[in-house]
Amino acid sequence: MKSSFITLNNGNKMPMQGFGTLQIKDAKVCEKCIYESIKAGVRMFDTAPAYFNEEAVGKGIAKAITEGLVMREELFIVTKLWIQDTPKDMVRAAVMESMRKLQVGYLDLYLIHQPYGSYLESWPVMEQLVREGTIKNIGVCNFSKSKLEELQQVATINPTVNQIEIHPYYLHKELREYMAEQNIAPMAWGPLSEGQRGIFENQDFRVIAEKHDKSVAQVILRWHLQRGVPAIPKSIHTEYIRENFDILDFELAEDEMNLIESYDMGYSEIIDHNNPLTEKWLTEWKIHE
Ligand SMILES: NC(=O)c1ccc[n+]([C@@H]2O[C@H](COP(=O)([O-])OP(=O)(O)OC[C@H]3O[C@@H](n4cnc5c(N)ncnc54)[C@H](OP(=O)(O)O)[C@@H]3O)[C@@H](O)[C@H]2O)c1
Repeated sequence: MKSSFITLNNGNKMPMQGFGTLQIKDAKVCEKCIYESIKAGVRMFDTAPAYFNEEAVGKGIAKAITEGLVMREELFIVTKLWIQDTPKDMVRAAVMESMRKLQVGYLDLYLIHQPYGSYLESWPVMEQLVREGTIKNIGVCNFSKSKLEELQQVATINPTVNQIEIHPYYLHKELREYMAEQNIAPMAWGPLSEGQRGIFENQDFRVIAEKHDKSVAQVILRWHLQRGVPAIPKSIHTEYIRENFDILDFELAEDEMNLIESYDMGYSEIIDHNNPLTEKWLTEWKIHE
């Protein structure tokens, strides 16, 4: 089974299907998940210093490479810059520390994790690391249209990706339109709505799933794929990891796609990045001394 790719605004290719590692804190479990994902065909991995599992992700990758399951060049490794490390004199050290933990000589995609802190001064350092070949692609997470515009004023390299919450209950429509105009690729976090809002029990989704002899998770992930949205579902269960990647042998009809999209609420129930309280608690949260 081979996943497809999206071409980023710099001409580089990024897999459409990935694996997310938020809240996989147990190192052994995380390492196993990465290894099983690679066995299942997944080639893109999303982690962050704030997930406290870069080392375990690195171990899973190293094991698979050592066993000859995959080569480094086939993998697309994504990690992020936490708010605390956004001042310009801290960015390079943060990148080096992530690479050390991940046991890699370059990062495929490096993202500003939150739209807070000194990210305007982080960006030129990230651009320099691209020029040096240490990072292949740079981008952001959770940036609104106005934050993207602000960043674009200092940027000489346009962000390639904005990793944002996207699932049937929140399509992030307006922001997606702006990103499409600017050729900034989306990457869906929470592609399965983090399992919330009873997504797996939704009757409409179940009917579609039964019709295709697939699970609801597979239907939702197929919907992302058909909309051209790269997605990084997380699971600690090997059977789900395999299932989530196995979505290339069926196709949703237009009315099925529309029905899934009809659940859009137009807002997030998970996090509101425009709320000053969100900015306060995330900025106050330190991940190292
Ligand atoms: N940049 C950001 O600010 C940001 C924010 C949030 C997330 N992320 C990234 O996006 C990734 C994905 O988002 P997420 O982890 O929040 O949520 P998600 O992938 O939408 O959902 C994960 C939940 O769905 C369950 N699940 C997965 N596959 C399933 C299946 N086939 N059947 C039934 N249940 C299934 C998982 O359960 P089990 O694990 O128990 O199997 C888990 O409870 C994260 O891991 C992280 O890498 C980034």
